[in-house]
Amino acid sequence: MIQLEKFESKEDILRLIKWVDSTRLNIIWASDKFTFPLDEDQLVCYLNDAKKNNILIFKVLEVINNKAIVVGHAELDIFENDIKISRLLIDKTQRGKGYGEQMVKLLIKYIHKNLNHTSIFLTVFTFNKPAIALYEKLGFETVEIDPDFMSYESEIWDRQKMILKN
Ligand SMILES: CC(C)(COP(=O)(O)OP(=O)(O)OC[C@H]1O[C@@H](n2cnc3c(N)ncnc32)[C@H](O)[C@@H]1OP(=O)(O)O)[C@@H](O)C(=O)NCCC(=O)NCCS
Repeated sequence: MIQLEKFESKEDILRLIKWVDSTRLNIIWASDKFTFPLDEDQLVCYLNDAKKNNILIFKVLEVINNKAIVVGHAELDIFENDIKISRLLIDKTQRGKGYGEQMVKLLIKYIHKNLNHTSIFLTVFTFNKPAIALYEKLGFETVEIDPDFMSYESEIWDRQKMILKN
């Protein structure tokens, strides 16, 4: 069973810096929000901005034999009429074990229980097939494609918006 806890400590920041180990992953995970390599200054600003801008930042924990391990990271951006699920990341060593799916399900449950919003959306680069398969499995559908959203080295990346069907 996984659970969400506030991402806030220095330990959380240092762990996330270790996880985001390439420019490519930095963009896949956070688009153009951070420059690579991540550092404490950028993440302290991230935490401060979140307080001002209705953003909830979580670490995702799995508790096994009374011992908690942090397996993921997630964010909820609260807008007037809808909520964006973003900055989803599962620790590379923990992928493929169902944690990503459990994390998104838990975020949806959290939104329904704690936030008075009915519309939930996310964005994802169109080449990110594992993430798209996960979102489709949980009922998200693509409603918009933003062509040429970003460039990385010689690649041009499209981005798509997906909404959770009711
Ligand atoms: C995308 C990500 C969060 C998925 O987490 P995960 O824990 O590995 O995924 P799960 O084990 O829970 O898999 C759930 C579903 O996702 C899809 N999926 C996961 N990995 C996949 C892969 N390598 N290829 C195809 N589909 C995949 C499948 O639909 C899978 O369901 P199934 O097992 O019934 O086939 C993880 O790969 C990750 O952190 N990637 C890097 C960052 C990123 O892409 N974030 C999303 C930005 S929008």
